[in-house]
Amino acid sequence: MKSVLDSQKAVKALHPDHPRIEGPLKVTGAAKYTSDIVLPGMLYAVPLGSSIASGSIDSMRTEKAEAMTGVKAVYTHYNIGPIFRVVSAKGVMGHMEETRPPLADNRITYYGQYVALAVADSFEAATAAARAVEVSYKAGPAQVAQLSPTAAAKVKSERGDADSSFASAEVRIDHVYRTPAQTHNPMELHATVAVWEGDRVTLYETSQGLVNHRLILAQALGLPLENVRVICHFLGSGFGSKLFPWTHSALVASAARKLGAPVKMVLDRSMMFHAVGHRPETLQRLRIGSRKSGVIQSLHHDYVSQGSLLDEYIEDCGRVTPFLYSTPSLKVAASLDRKNVGAPTTMRGPGAVPGEFALESAMDELATQLNIDPVAFRLKNEPAIDESRNVPFSSRHLKECLNAGMKRFGWEARTSVPGSMKQDGATLGWGMSACAWDALRFDAEVTTELFADGTARVSTCSQDIGTGTYTALARMVSELTGLPIDRISVALGDTDLPPGPTSGGSRATASLVGAVGEATRKAIAAVLETAAANNDEPFKGATADRFRLREGKVAMDDSSGPSATIAEVLSRAGIHKVTGSGKSAAIQGAGEKEKHSIHSYGAHFCEVRWQPEIARLRVQRFVSVIDAGRIINPVAAQNQIEGAVVMGIGMALFEETRYEAKKGAPLNSNLADYIMMTNADSPPIDVEFLDYPDTILNELGAKGLGEIGIVGAAAAVTAAVYHATGVRVRELPVRIEHLLRA
Ligand code: MOS
Repeated sequence: MKSVLDSQKAVKALHPDHPRIEGPLKVTGAAKYTSDIVLPGMLYAVPLGSSIASGSIDSMRTEKAEAMTGVKAVYTHYNIGPIFRVVSAKGVMGHMEETRPPLADNRITYYGQYVALAVADSFEAATAAARAVEVSYKAGPAQVAQLSPTAAAKVKSERGDADSSFASAEVRIDHVYRTPAQTHNPMELHATVAVWEGDRVTLYETSQGLVNHRLILAQALGLPLENVRVICHFLGSGFGSKLFPWTHSALVASAARKLGAPVKMVLDRSMMFHAVGHRPETLQRLRIGSRKSGVIQSLHHDYVSQGSLLDEYIEDCGRVTPFLYSTPSLKVAASLDRKNVGAPTTMRGPGAVPGEFALESAMDELATQLNIDPVAFRLKNEPAIDESRNVPFSSRHLKECLNAGMKRFGWEARTSVPGSMKQDGATLGWGMSACAWDALRFDAEVTTELFADGTARVSTCSQDIGTGTYTALARMVSELTGLPIDRISVALGDTDLPPGPTSGGSRATASLVGAVGEATRKAIAAVLETAAANNDEPFKGATADRFRLREGKVAMDDSSGPSATIAEVLSRAGIHKVTGSGKSAAIQGAGEKEKHSIHSYGAHFCEVRWQPEIARLRVQRFVSVIDAGRIINPVAAQNQIEGAVVMGIGMALFEETRYEAKKGAPLNSNLADYIMMTNADSPPIDVEFLDYPDTILNELGAKGLGEIGIVGAAAAVTAAVYHATGVRVRELPVRIEHLLRA
């Protein structure tokens, strides 16, 4: 069957001034998202989710559902046939969170777990059939209640004798912080469309990592890798929920194989709360010991992450703690408290976001206790090297972020006593935090082609999660070739293309820089060789080593000489195109052979306005200064940080997935009850980028910046809330009830 999307179709700017080359496709509706895919003869799948969170299926009856008009099949654990268990690797390639195959048996471990899949010739018929499946359960007790700090802990990082240093410290704080479960709510729902041709399957997916998706689905479906093709041209974001495949993908592919027809499934919003990951609840104890002068002596970070019953994801709250501040002694330890919930997963800034809420809150509390300005306290404890690994930082400009942020925010005017700052009868609160996030790379391969018609095409199997990967690639090729951006097309989102990086961990752009550079330079070299090999007018008699690309023109080394366009050189030689391929290898960071500690840094400053007489709290101003190396696309970069800060404020004030205690169902599994930031809640966000290219990471010096903006942001908000109200909120989200204690 012919794909509805031409795999070779690439995205190209309609106009050189578009900030996003794919923008016009999106605003005109021409961009096809996975749920837009309609194939001839396509069937619709709708799952039935378990109404219990723990126990087993006693019996099922599907006859009524199967007899309904338009219904093609109803699958359960009795008849789905083999979907293989995936051997999940640690890391990003070859990984999925929920490794139990869907409909594997009658065991139930979380509410909403798929127990049946109805397939029909319309979505409505499939929905009605799924509801008509009769299931009787044997329900066991569901454990969804709050985490307890009793589980056995594993030491993640340790130096010195943190216990005795803490015991003998002149000043100590010891506090417990809680962050709730949170649900990713990208606008675009998760979806799969599966279509088979013989024993080959094409999957239209909502995936942040197509290369990994293919690896996993080939295993689950029992196919050689080359028999699986995965396509995803556009994503309506994912925030980590689309980083790894979820069970619906194999389920839909299996149904399509059995029925010999394309099958589509789009999750509804409520399924997004249990079937495709969430940020798990955390419980964190921070103990910091310091000299009276404000020099840290000891740092303990103990955390418990909510986990699911069968999976291994743990919210790695301590990932930044070992290197953010200087301390002679430190101990970071983690544990998992398993509950009857769907598999948790990465959510924007995984680990670091809850972790730095706790760490940065504790830093603020200790600064308050020491009566030292919180910015000065951080500056005092700036490390010279990564003390956890004894390696230098590739680049670290946290001090500069803090100083620039203070200036931009006007921090000098702050008076330290809570409630002491007033504005028009209201109370102001000023708080701040520091932040750090990984700056790493995945493997990447890129092809650049230069054509005789004066256009270029760059391609890789990465995907644009919405952050601007199409535009970033076009800009890089434009810069290297001198071709205007509207002559460059970008092909992404298809496993038929050279394998590219996952759009996760803020690494896609940083991963692609080196490969795009190499591929494009090789293609340019092929043009120059062509010019030398066919050197009649205007280059008569010149040798290859004398050719250069200068401002987009092929020219001789002496700048006054003749020149020709790439198009002219190729046309004269009768060549349609030249091709260059480039590769760059992963830099995975800590614990490996890497000689540097490579991270992005930042500082957040937040102003809240508090009106106690009407219990009204608003975040009214936010300043973020970010050290993310060289910024490739300033407009897209600012947009990333603004979006991340909005999410961070939402984490502080609103976001929380609540589970119903008996049935274990997410209670607020819709966009009305799961409260998120709206434009009306969002303050002006002032973003400044420092410009310190980190060429240890890649040739342009571009570090990751998708996630750094949310890390630490919630702690800046709660620090500001304390400064306004005198109430220290250690359990997110901040509620009016907390503040009424003031
Ligand atoms: Mo991000 S949580 O790595 O998609």
